[in-house]
Amino acid sequence: MTSEATRAAVAATGSTTSLIYDDWYQAIRSSEIADKRMSKAMLLGIPLVMGRTATGRYFAMRDSCPHRGIPLSYGWFDGKQVTCKYHGWGFEPISGQCREIPSLTERDSLDPCRIYATAFPCEERDGHVWVYVPQSGRGKLRADDLSQLPPVPEISKFSRRFRSAYLTADLPCNIDHGIIGLMDPAHGPFVHQAWWWRSRASIHEKEKRFEPIENGFRMTAHQPSANSAPYKLLGVYGEPITTTIDFVLPNRRYEIIRCGEKWFASLTTVTPTTENHCRIDVCAAWNVFLNVPFLTPIAKFFGNRFVRQDQLTMIQQAEGLKYNPSLMLIDDADRPAKWYFELKQARLESQTTGKPMRHPMDGPVTLHWRS
Ligand code: FES
Ligand SMILES: [Fe+2]
Repeated sequence: MTSEATRAAVAATGSTTSLIYDDWYQAIRSSEIADKRMSKAMLLGIPLVMGRTATGRYFAMRDSCPHRGIPLSYGWFDGKQVTCKYHGWGFEPISGQCREIPSLTERDSLDPCRIYATAFPCEERDGHVWVYVPQSGRGKLRADDLSQLPPVPEISKFSRRFRSAYLTADLPCNIDHGIIGLMDPAHGPFVHQAWWWRSRASIHEKEKRFEPIENGFRMTAHQPSANSAPYKLLGVYGEPITTTIDFVLPNRRYEIIRCGEKWFASLTTVTPTTENHCRIDVCAAWNVFLNVPFLTPIAKFFGNRFVRQDQLTMIQQAEGLKYNPSLMLIDDADRPAKWYFELKQARLESQTTGKPMRHPMDGPVTLHWRS
């Protein structure tokens, strides 16, 4: 994409944007789904009714009865079947297949089993129920068959014992602003000022190497100076420390820090709930300080502050975006954001043409910015 095109893409994100279908998205925390209770979620503007069957499988159906469109979430669920509140049609929730139409008599030839409510493939990972959202009108997808689908995303774990934590925040902006906020290296010293983190005066020049990976790019493993305080704190003298940060379409940022046996890994996503709203979810897992009490609540406290600072900034940004200002992306600090727009464009094109996706980066690139 030319810089003009990039500018146009960003300018256009002030209001609505195109969404990427045919991929996995986190719909809801699995802890929000309790026995025989149906829960509601929204993904890419699609209302969902979700639950868990008596045999322990999660389901996600479009929250709309195929008969007259009343939300199925107003009906009943007995652990096996979702029953519509209006005329009592009963659906097997994993496949969406209709099993029962109470109004039919012996004289009717209609076979309920030929009718389907829309059901989506879903799977649990890291405490979230992930839902695969296909492009509508692209043939029927069997919600109970995951074999043709890409793997469900998850955090890499490098030991059997680990701790984990989770944070979330709603963002009043479209997916593109959420994502470029996620990969923006230059806001740190301004948005995340805090005595325990960093001040504005700590800005200095950084040099980072990026390389193309499938569906995204990687900030290549590097070693921070081994005598810095955090590493002394970890008690990991002498072991090499490596960090990698990957961005992968449609919306995932994976970070992995490893040092000998110790590791920290996180997956941060920005999920479009509707065209103009998204939600940031941060899931982290680690095996550092496993035996320190209260570490998880403390980590959550600081993590939460971080996410709130981003959220507040985006709420304020949304005030400005209401009036459709024209915007810009600059080098090198906004280059990852440019790659995101180019990758998204390439993905959408390949989905329309059926041709393999062309990667916008043709090799490793070193970027410089001050932050
Ligand atoms: S609207 Fe659902 S059964 Fe009629
Ligand atoms: Fe931030």
